Amino acid sequence: MITLIDHIGIAVRSIDTARELFEDILGLKITDTEVVEEQKVKVAFIPVGDSELELLEATSPDGPIARFIDQQGEGIQHIAFRVEDIDAALRTLKSKKVRLIDETPRRGAGGARIAFLHPKAANGTLIELCERGGAPDDNRG
Ligand code: CO
Repeated sequence: MITLIDHIGIAVRSIDTARELFEDILGLKITDTEVVEEQKVKVAFIPVGDSELELLEATSPDGPIARFIDQQGEGIQHIAFRVEDIDAALRTLKSKKVRLIDETPRRGAGGARIAFLHPKAANGTLIELCERGGAPDDNRG
């Protein structure tokens, strides 16, 4: 049901500061940024081949990214797997009693449909499932 690593989410204190490493030194390119209000996060998208990095900067001290950085500092916050059918994927996980944060999909960046597994179900790693619709270049999440 998983087709590729869609993106890796990295919590950063400042996208502007992180940009120096990823763009000026590593030669990657931030192609877009988006604020996801419900998650209190600003996201910068950096394509790497068919996958992306997502730099996640908190927009409020009480959001999940701010809490993550308070607790463990900057770093990898989640890994997202692309799935073709997120409803089917969630049904499978529920039938196998896998602990979920999201029982039903919600909207992620770029209009993707996403859902998180509970880190306790995945060796302490926060895993996101991500279903993208639309044209191949309408490819955000
Ligand atoms: Co994500």
